[in-house]
Amino acid sequence: MSSNVFPERGQGHAALIKQLQAFKRNDVPWQEGRVFAYVYDPGPEASALVHEAFSLFLTENGLDPTAFPSTLALERAITAMAKDLVHGPDQAVGNFTSGGTESILLSVKTARDRARALQPEITRPEMVLPETAHAAFFKAAQYFDIKPVVTSVDPDTFRADPNQIEAAVTAQTILLVASAPSYAHGVVDPIEAIGRIAQAHDLLFHVDACMGGMYLPFAGPDVPIFDFRVAGVTQLSMDFHKWGYAAKGASCILYRSADIRRHQIFAWSGWTGYSVVNPTVLSTRGAGPMAACWAILHHLGRAGYERIVAQCQAATGRIIDAIDAMPGLYCLGRSDCNLMSFASDRVNVFTLAEDMRARGWYIQPQFGFGPSPANIHLSVGLHNLANIDAFLADLEAANRQAPAEGPAPGPEQLPPELGGFSPEDLFDHMGRLAGTDGSVLPDRMDGINSLLNGLPHATRDSLLTEFVNRLYRQAPSG
Ligand SMILES: Cc1ncc(COP(=O)(O)O)c(C=O)c1O
Repeated sequence: MSSNVFPERGQGHAALIKQLQAFKRNDVPWQEGRVFAYVYDPGPEASALVHEAFSLFLTENGLDPTAFPSTLALERAITAMAKDLVHGPDQAVGNFTSGGTESILLSVKTARDRARALQPEITRPEMVLPETAHAAFFKAAQYFDIKPVVTSVDPDTFRADPNQIEAAVTAQTILLVASAPSYAHGVVDPIEAIGRIAQAHDLLFHVDACMGGMYLPFAGPDVPIFDFRVAGVTQLSMDFHKWGYAAKGASCILYRSADIRRHQIFAWSGWTGYSVVNPTVLSTRGAGPMAACWAILHHLGRAGYERIVAQCQAATGRIIDAIDAMPGLYCLGRSDCNLMSFASDRVNVFTLAEDMRARGWYIQPQFGFGPSPANIHLSVGLHNLANIDAFLADLEAANRQAPAEGPAPGPEQLPPELGGFSPEDLFDHMGRLAGTDGSVLPDRMDGINSLLNGLPHATRDSLLTEFVNRLYRQAPSG
């Protein structure tokens, strides 16, 4: 189908669309609602609107709001709606970004640059975050040279521990971080308690509501307060391309005031070209995601999201109860929303995930880390609702049939004989054990995942880097 050389001659529309469709042939079957991660599908009617809105703004460029005031208007409208949902004060401001990671990168960069400007005595900036915080914060720490100071969470609830957070604050701290909710277990951290710490130490405090921002406001009165109603919260990320059901490439970062956001903006006229003034990471910015986001928010409205969230809450509750009743399986923590995870003391969850994949389901394996054993994550969305009974029946059968070999061994010290290996050699060695050279995607991941689960995360990360470095080479012809 694809070749590895640049095409000599162009091809026609129909042939190319057919080939593009063929690229998808091994993808997880999201259209059938059998995928419990990555996909946020609002159903055919709303999807048609998202498609059309996206296409309408395919060519406009959010780089220059003076040339394309439409993009400025869309961005203002979207961030105003977001601010309304999470109780931003009047003076709160925000920007539309390409995703949760960009929102988080911007927030951390803003904290760093604000400290540079206002607190020159801070020479080695630190960010205090719970071990359940999203990896994007660690990416930001790497990119912007901030020291992540990681605090452990309650081993039963997986919620951040305010006492540990307060104890980790030093004269170098520039930012506190908490999740609403955390991805892995779907629990909301104690935002009010952490907000009080932020205020007491005059610190910025980022609430990662990438998952919760478009979900928790619709989940009723029992949800813990997680947003700008907490006085200490200074910045908050929330994604539309998750539970907002927008097209991918849609998130926002909000700040309590423009004084904080000022440190986010990049302006450069010191070159021979046009003046670059970017509020966000990207310069050229597609307007399609903005238009599609604006459209779906207006299409569903508060009533639509409330209806979806009520159904997802009920479905998640049913799944949790059913899984807790299956032999050997148990749910981790008590999810506050539609994200949850479960582990087993009887079977290897990596095997279970692959067995379920063979039955046509995608459920997401997560490595053991800190108090969280190897587990399976489920994000339960609108697209899954019609399949809950079928899913539980297959999970029950797969769990019963999986060998009772016990859980995959958790992280150990790296065996001394492997200590001197370079990442490349270690990858070759582990690859032989798992039966892959890393150049193609393996059919089953359980062997590899079980091996990786047993390694310290730094070793795991260098192996995963090597894997991806090999994977993103020339596509095999076919
Ligand atoms: C809590 C949380 N924060 C941040 C992110 C990163 O978002 P994205 O994948 O849009 O960059 C995710 C993604 O799942 C998330 O769950």
